[in-house]
Amino acid sequence: MARPVIISTDPGIDDAVAISILLFSKKVDVKLIAAAAGNVGIDQTLINVLKLEQFLGQSIPVVKGVSRAIIKEPVHAYNVHGKSGLDGYEFPEPDHSLVINQTAPEAIHEVVSHSNEKVTLVGIAPLTDYAMFIRLYPEDLQNVEELVMMGGCIGRGNYGVLSEFNIAGDPEAAKIVFESGLKIRVAPLELGMQARIKPNISKKIKTYGRVGDMFYSLFSKYRGGSFKTGLKIYDALAAGILLNPDMFTFEKTHVEIVNQEGFTYGASLMDFKNRLHLSENALIGKSVDVDQFVKWFVEAIKQAC
Ligand code: RIB
Ligand code: CA
Repeated sequence: MARPVIISTDPGIDDAVAISILLFSKKVDVKLIAAAAGNVGIDQTLINVLKLEQFLGQSIPVVKGVSRAIIKEPVHAYNVHGKSGLDGYEFPEPDHSLVINQTAPEAIHEVVSHSNEKVTLVGIAPLTDYAMFIRLYPEDLQNVEELVMMGGCIGRGNYGVLSEFNIAGDPEAAKIVFESGLKIRVAPLELGMQARIKPNISKKIKTYGRVGDMFYSLFSKYRGGSFKTGLKIYDALAAGILLNPDMFTFEKTHVEIVNQEGFTYGASLMDFKNRLHLSENALIGKSVDVDQFVKWFVEAIKQAC
């Protein structure tokens, strides 16, 4: 039975890959896509979600997320995804009729509170909308199966010295999420670094018709890693954890989010040595079988083509 899923996303080229994989997987039933502020501004991520759905022939309801982080000044990653957030491919015009007239926390509440089955939250963007949902509708958490997210880093960051973009994009939201008591499985930066998509794989995907060609065009502009040495499709690792967890090894630990101003603001301290003596609050993906992942990745992309 396909499990009900909500996606919070800031497309974002790696988001586009993860969204496509989830939309065409038989294991999940995507009920809602919440556009989040992150890689590019909220108005653009909303347009990007709609453009992607239009291109893929999908009509999943879409909601516009909270326009910026709770405290943190807005972040963006134009240098990675381009000004549009999906540089490299000319998508068809978006279908704005898919946008529901609610706030993202309200829309998430509607889906979760009315679902006969516990709902899985997928987070591949800063966690603002999920944090607001947790604060506004705590009674709904009993009907949330888990949060599967891309975020944080075991070692060095890609935004700050020790901070990863999704966490650093809204540290206060991340703190609320990691203190919520939800079951959380995390794909940290390191998984994307391990499971790089090499040129031969990108070229193989290009042969999968118009959708494969779209991905190849996006990959040629994507600056998460490099086309030649291998692309770090971070958000696809979160999709992998949800759809095919046996490819990974995990370790339970306490994740402490630093939300004090300063050089470590937005760091995600993953306390595998239990130095903080705080209770475990997340399952961290520590390693991935790269051969298995690449095989799975190609097959999952093919489902969307
Ligand atoms: O740090 C990588 C994460 O930040 C990914 O979700 C990418 O899309 C950006 O949002
Ligand atoms: Ca993302």
